[in-house]
Amino acid sequence: MTQAVLGIIGGSGLYDLPGLEKTEWRQVGTPWGEPSDAILFAELDGMPLRFLPRHGRGHRISPSGIDYRANIDAMKRAGVTDIVSVSAVGSLKEELAPGDFVLVDQFIDRTFAREKSFFGTGLVAHVSMADPVSPGLAARIAAAGAAEDISCRRGGTYLVMEGPQFSSRAESELYRTWGCDVIGMTNMPEAKLAREAEICYATIAMVTDYDCWHPDHGAVDVSQVIRVMGENTARVQRLVARLARDFPREHEPCPVGSDRALDHAIMTAPGA
Ligand code: ADE
Repeated sequence: MTQAVLGIIGGSGLYDLPGLEKTEWRQVGTPWGEPSDAILFAELDGMPLRFLPRHGRGHRISPSGIDYRANIDAMKRAGVTDIVSVSAVGSLKEELAPGDFVLVDQFIDRTFAREKSFFGTGLVAHVSMADPVSPGLAARIAAAGAAEDISCRRGGTYLVMEGPQFSSRAESELYRTWGCDVIGMTNMPEAKLAREAEICYATIAMVTDYDCWHPDHGAVDVSQVIRVMGENTARVQRLVARLARDFPREHEPCPVGSDRALDHAIMTAPGA
């Protein structure tokens, strides 16, 4: 049996969950570089949890400056089988308002200044990203939301931009014509690397603003993002705590094969 270990990548405040036990910050080294911070090892009702502050404690690292390979590899080394990405996003749809939670199931990767693969030098692999989110994990997050009376919209497309500047109005309008639901700066290459590491991945996208396209709302600024994230902290903590309490202690095989993504992905001939 494979023991399930829940990894949470997100902002500060998340790891102050009431009821956390056996807490210990541990430095986890990787051959790729330094992860954003130490990882908080903990348990909740016996469920092992690992928290990694994506931007480092105190938010010191910009989206382009994050070493995503080091972060995902460190989570793998910490035994994580399932990653929940907790991420602030802007809304590209009228019906998604600040304060809403969206369990996205697709991404469009528009980032261009990040290392995106563990493979390429000596060993070539092409994993499937057709279904970047693990539906079993997303269903468990939705169930935790329902149990806590926290509404989570199921499905949606997250446009990942490079940043650090927010979008121009023309870009925002373009992404709306593409049918995107939300926009953010961090979930790629995180989701791609999680797949290469055979870790299940799902995102709780927390809407903080209407980006800059909405005629009745001003353009997004950081004070708005921080304010809405602060208002969301207690709700997302409850959601994560419920998810952890109800999570199966034995890892469940992923319906889209996230946990065995390399089975049919290696191109390089054995011994080459
Ligand atoms: N994170 C939160 N709001 C955002 C926005 N409007 N664009 C990009 N990233 C965001």
